[in-house]
Amino acid sequence: MNVESLVRPEVQRFQPYVPGRPIAEVKRQYRLRRVVKLASNENPLGPSRRAIGALSRVSKELHRYPEGTSGELREALARRVGLPPSQVIVGAGSDELIELVGKVFLRPEDEIVVSEHAFLRFKMAGDLMGCRVVSVPMRRFTHDLAAMSHAVTPRTKVLFVANPNNPTGTYVTAREVEALLAALPKSVLVVFDEAYYEYANSAKGYPDTIRLLKRGAPVMVLRTFSKVYGLAGLRIGYGFAHPEIIATLDRIRPPFNVSSAAQAAAVASLADRRQVTRGRELVTQQRHKLCEALTRRGIRVVPSAANFLMLDVTPRSGIGVFEAFLKRGIIVRAMEEYGFPHHIRVTIGLPAENRLFLKALDDILRLANNALRSEMSDAVPSQGRRATAYLTKERYAERA
Ligand SMILES: Cc1ncc(COP(=O)(O)O)c(C=O)c1O
Repeated sequence: MNVESLVRPEVQRFQPYVPGRPIAEVKRQYRLRRVVKLASNENPLGPSRRAIGALSRVSKELHRYPEGTSGELREALARRVGLPPSQVIVGAGSDELIELVGKVFLRPEDEIVVSEHAFLRFKMAGDLMGCRVVSVPMRRFTHDLAAMSHAVTPRTKVLFVANPNNPTGTYVTAREVEALLAALPKSVLVVFDEAYYEYANSAKGYPDTIRLLKRGAPVMVLRTFSKVYGLAGLRIGYGFAHPEIIATLDRIRPPFNVSSAAQAAAVASLADRRQVTRGRELVTQQRHKLCEALTRRGIRVVPSAANFLMLDVTPRSGIGVFEAFLKRGIIVRAMEEYGFPHHIRVTIGLPAENRLFLKALDDILRLANNALRSEMSDAVPSQGRRATAYLTKERYAERA
């Protein structure tokens, strides 16, 4: 059987997403007893106790299919932001919703506009549908919304903004968003992916996109239970948009896309505001400490409003440094696939995990300085120095 001839060309060309390495696999590969995962921007404090209670209750009903519309959760989410349930959709992670947007709106003759180093799933949603993906350079590691608006053509259907962006951690402000919406034709849907909303919403100038939606702007807002709510393993995310957009996405949404376990845990988590506060406080404190420690070591860090940091490891390659961390039982992410061959991304962990990260980093830097560079491959050409966009020790002190 010639399988290739059966496969759509879009799928043949498709570059699959490479997730962070799982703990069990790294333990096996390197024969390690302890492995710290700082690779997927999860909340190291874990889920709410209320979510665990809800999971135990729902476990007695696992022989039943889940509620297809995630009705209770939809209502709870609608109440939380002051929209009707007809403006809410729940997905198996916000990932599924990004893909649904692609399936509903994009044909091969259409275009989407993304930022060059934005979360990769946007480009992948376009690639899967065979449409043209217009990638716009960043400014200071941040989505350049003005340039993105100039990239819009009559063929543009969707413009994606990750706010804050993964992997850079940077965010765009309300002012920039207002200017973008004013510049765009109303026929373009602007999707704001706010997976890290709970960490970023108190940052200066962070936009209130729900207010824009209420005002009738052509926007969709995506959020998730995978990050601060600590439910990444259950796969559950959600979105807000115009009722007609939600109804259209719902038409092709798989009938039981979100498990009953995920729905129950999410409803319970939503009611636990203390868990969110604890997750946010951990990140604020530890991000501050980590930034200070890194800048003290002369490492350049991109300012982040999320629960991770992107670091410049020039002249070393991100992959080399990632591998050196792996051997020491710490999983971070190399950023080559995001177009940053000399950067790594590290999730803010528990205090002890962050200390282990720094200890391993010191070890790796010392090794490198001692010319034991064979442990790392430095074969990647150096990027331009973009020093002004980084947090320096002085700039960090100013912001803190
Ligand atoms: C910007 C961004 N959007 C969406 C997601 C996907 O989240 P989910 O687990 O809800 O699919 C991630 C996960 O890392 C992310 O960083």
